[in-house]
Amino acid sequence: MRTMQTVTEKGLDHSILPMRLYHKAKKLGIWDPRDIDFTKDAEDWAGFSDIQRAILLRLCSLFQAGEEAVTRDLLPLIRAISLEGRLEEEMYLATFLWEEAKHTEVFRRFLDEVACEKNDLTAMHGPNYRAIFDTQLPASMERLIHDPSPAAQAEASVTYNMVVEGVLAETGYYAFYNMLQANGKMPGLLRAIGYLKKDESRHIGYGTYLLSRLISEQDEIWQVVQRRIQQLMPYAVGVVSELFEVLNQQLDAVAAAGEELFELDQQDFMNYAMKQFQSRMNVLERARGKSVDEIYHVSEATVGVLD
Ligand code: MN
Ligand code: FE2
Repeated sequence: MRTMQTVTEKGLDHSILPMRLYHKAKKLGIWDPRDIDFTKDAEDWAGFSDIQRAILLRLCSLFQAGEEAVTRDLLPLIRAISLEGRLEEEMYLATFLWEEAKHTEVFRRFLDEVACEKNDLTAMHGPNYRAIFDTQLPASMERLIHDPSPAAQAEASVTYNMVVEGVLAETGYYAFYNMLQANGKMPGLLRAIGYLKKDESRHIGYGTYLLSRLISEQDEIWQVVQRRIQQLMPYAVGVVSELFEVLNQQLDAVAAAGEELFELDQQDFMNYAMKQFQSRMNVLERARGKSVDEIYHVSEATVGVLD
C-alpha cells in the first residue's frame, strides 16, 4: 500500500520554491497561443525583402525545433522526480511541460499563418545545433529512465535547463525581442516572445533550484555539474557561431541594399549569454554547504524568475 501525501499531516508544502513556481505558472502560464493577433505581423512580413524573410525564418526554425525538442524530452525528468515522491515538484513540472507544448504551438502558428512556410526547414540547423538537440539533450534525458540517480539528474538538468534553456533559448529570445522591439515590427511575435521569456524564467528557475538541491544534498554533484558544462559549452558556442556565420552574410546583404530591419550584434548576444550563465553558476556554487532546507526556501529573485 502506498501513502498519499495529501491525506497525511504533510498535506502540500506551499512554502517551497517549486510550489511557489506552480502557483505563479497558474497565473502567468495560461496565455493562449491562439489568442495572439498576427494580423500586423502578416502585413509586416509581406513588406519584407527576401533576405529579411530568410533571416527571420532561420531564427524561427531554430526556436521551433528547440521548443519541440524540449517538449518531447522533459518526461523522463518528471518521472524521476515523481518516483522520489516529490509531489510539489511534480505539480510544478506539469505546468512546465504544458508551457513547452504551447511554445511549440505558437511558433508553428507563426510559420503557418505569417510566414506561410510549407518547406522542410531542417537543413537550417547546423552540426552544433544537431549535436545538442539530436544527441546530447535526448540522451541525457532518456538516461533517467534506467538511471534516475542524482548525478544523472544533474547532467540532465545542466543540459536541459542550464545550456538549452539558459544559454540558447534565453539568449535567442533576448536577441530576437530586442531586434523586433527596436523597429516596431511583428507585434504578435513580440508579444509571444514576451510570454516565452517569462515562462522560461520559471523553467530555468526550477532547474537552478533542482541543481542547487542536488549539490546541497551531495557535494560531489558540483563536480558533475562543472564537467557536464565543459562538455557542452563548445557545442553551445558552436550554435551561436554557426548561426552568425550565415546571419552576418545576410545582414551585410540587407545593409548593402539599404534596407533597415534589424541589428543583431554577435558580441552583445554572447555577452548576455555569458552574464546570465555566470550568475546561475554563482547561485549553484553558493549551494555548496547550504542546508537543503535553505534551498527549498530560496527566493524567486535569487533564481531569476520574472513576474
Ligand atoms: Mn520553451
Ligand atoms: Fe522551457
